[in-house]
Amino acid sequence: MILYDNHNRPLTYLRLSVTDRCNLRCFYCMPAEGIDWLPKSQLLSFEEIIRIVQLLAQLGIRKLRITGGEPFVRKDIMKLLDKLINLPGINEVHITTNGVLTAPFVRELKQMGIASVNLSLDTLDEKRFAAITHRNEFSKVMQTFEQLLSQSIPVKINAVVMEGKNEADIYSLIELTRNHPVSVRFIEEMPFNGSGAHYAQLNWNHKKILSHIRTAYPELQKLPDTPGSTAAMYHITGFTGTIGIIAAFSRTFCGSCNRIRITAQGMLKTCLYDDGVLNIRDLMRAGKSDTEVVAELLKAFTSRPRNGFEAEEKRKAIPVHESMSTIGG
Ligand code: GTP
Ligand code: 5AD
Ligand code: SF4
Repeated sequence: MILYDNHNRPLTYLRLSVTDRCNLRCFYCMPAEGIDWLPKSQLLSFEEIIRIVQLLAQLGIRKLRITGGEPFVRKDIMKLLDKLINLPGINEVHITTNGVLTAPFVRELKQMGIASVNLSLDTLDEKRFAAITHRNEFSKVMQTFEQLLSQSIPVKINAVVMEGKNEADIYSLIELTRNHPVSVRFIEEMPFNGSGAHYAQLNWNHKKILSHIRTAYPELQKLPDTPGSTAAMYHITGFTGTIGIIAAFSRTFCGSCNRIRITAQGMLKTCLYDDGVLNIRDLMRAGKSDTEVVAELLKAFTSRPRNGFEAEEKRKAIPVHESMSTIGG
């Protein structure tokens, strides 16, 4: 079965956050002092997560991405991953991590059959890493990167491009693709930093990132677009890896969006930019049957916003105070 939304887009991809907590403090995501973490009782339990994913797999969800906060700060995350990977209907399980705690688990991730790992890494300079994340964990992240390569796990690096912070890293990150089979993606900064601070427009938008890359690498080739992908992909002739640009703020890819999200506290979001449309955890904790939960889910999928702009307009909470860590990537 494949489910379509009210704009005729297939819904096949679930992004599931397992915690709002994080061991870094990336300034584009949360204030240096952190945010108020949710009490554990508010988080979905593993049993609740498995139940939701099973129901969604019956409705046609095939791809699962585990996000946070930082997934590896959740206790027993490997046990959960193992269960999710083995659920009928779920064809691929991916994870997005900051890499601080991940290296010791990479071999096991490979054995389990993780489909790929997206690693957040905005700079290859240790000092800039500390300035951006407010933590000195650069070497651990690099160990994770090396482990992923050595285990041949497909890896994508996520780098948010930030005015005055890491422009210098664009070219050095691209150089990783010269000899490594890695995809390096440059991301527009979104206003989800937990402070409510907003900007009217973005200086480093996808067009500027692209022309900046072309200046140094005029031989950059555009690769075909994959429906449902957030990244426009490129390749430099002779290089092993690929380069992506994610217009997360300009939202150029909503037309083929196949994603739904569930936050760590069980809130269904049918767009990254919406307020959350259904608390699945509360339905389950109120004793609703599978049939009743499915009916509510199906209803929510009939009123998805057309794109991230429509979702943002409909939000009740303006300005957005949320941290990306609470939203769940
Ligand atoms: P894959 O296509 O499965 O590799 O996922 P991804 O690259 O979208 O996921 P990842 O967790 O690595 O996120 C990379 C960046 O894309 C992050 O900044 C996300 O917040 C952003 N992003 C992911 N999904 C969406 C989306 O639906 N809308 C917008 N605007 N940005 C998104
Ligand atoms: N804007 C864009 N991307 C962000 N991420 C976190 N906060 C933001 C933001 N404000 C990215 C992280 C991570 C991914 C899940 O989301 O870099 O790689
Ligand atoms: Fe943590 Fe990711 Fe937010 Fe950085 S962007 S503070 S790694 S959740």
